[in-house]
Amino acid sequence: MEYKYEITNKVNDSLIKEMIKLDKVFFKGEDVGNLRKCKEWLSVNDDIYTVLLLNKKVIGYINFIPITDDFYEKFKAGSVRDSNLSKSDVLTFSAEKPLKCLFTSIALNKKFRKTLALQMLWIGFLKKIKSYNVVIDRVIMDCVTDIGEKCAIKHLGAKFIRKSSSGKIYEGQIKEFIK
Ligand SMILES: CC(C)(COP(=O)(O)OP(=O)(O)OC[C@H]1O[C@@H](n2cnc3c(N)ncnc32)[C@H](O)[C@@H]1OP(=O)(O)O)[C@@H](O)C(=O)NCCC(=O)NCCS
Repeated sequence: MEYKYEITNKVNDSLIKEMIKLDKVFFKGEDVGNLRKCKEWLSVNDDIYTVLLLNKKVIGYINFIPITDDFYEKFKAGSVRDSNLSKSDVLTFSAEKPLKCLFTSIALNKKFRKTLALQMLWIGFLKKIKSYNVVIDRVIMDCVTDIGEKCAIKHLGAKFIRKSSSGKIYEGQIKEFIK
C-alpha cells in the first residue's frame, strides 16, 4: 500500500474527534481537547488547525489561535488557561495589526516521532501562516510536557514566564518569521 501524507487546515467533527483521541494519549483533564470548545473557536476562525494526515487519518496536528490582547495578557499572567478561551477571545488571521497568538497544542502519533512527520507538520503550519501575510507579534503557550517545552524553545525561541496549574507558560515568536 502506498502511503500518502497530506496537510489539511480545514477540519470536521470526525477529524476533531481523532485529534481528541490523540490528545488522550499524552494529556490529562482540561489539557485534552473538547469538541464543543473546538467548535466554538472554529465558529470565529475556521483555520486554527494544521493537520497532518496519512491515508486520510490524523497522525499529528497543531492548534494555533490569534487571540485578543486582553486574553493574551491574562494567559501570560497565569490567570486563565486554554480551556477558558471563548469565542469572544478568538480573532481571525487578519493583517490589520500584528497578531498575538496562543499555541494551544501540538501532538504527533508516537509511531511517527523522530521521523520527518514533525517537519512536514511544521512546514504545513508555516505555509498556512505565510499565506495570510500577517505579522505574528508574539506567541504564548502552556507547555505541559518536557518535549513540548523543548520544542517551544527550539522552534519558537520561547522564554519561560511562570509556572501554570499543569505546566509552564512560555512566550516566543515563530523563528522563521523573525526579520
Ligand atoms: C511534541 C512532539 C510533536 C515533537 O515531535 P517529535 O517527533 O517527538 O520531535 P523530535 O523528535 O524533534 O523531538 C523533539 C525534542 O524532544 C527531545 N525529547 C525526546 N523525548 C523526550 C523526553 N521524554 N523529554 C524531553 N525531551 C525529549 C528530543 O530529543 C528532541 O530534542 P532535540 O531537538 O534536541 O533532539 C511529539 O513529541 C509529541 O506529540 N509529544 C506528545 C505531545 C506533547 O507533549 N505536546 C506538547 C505539549 S506542550
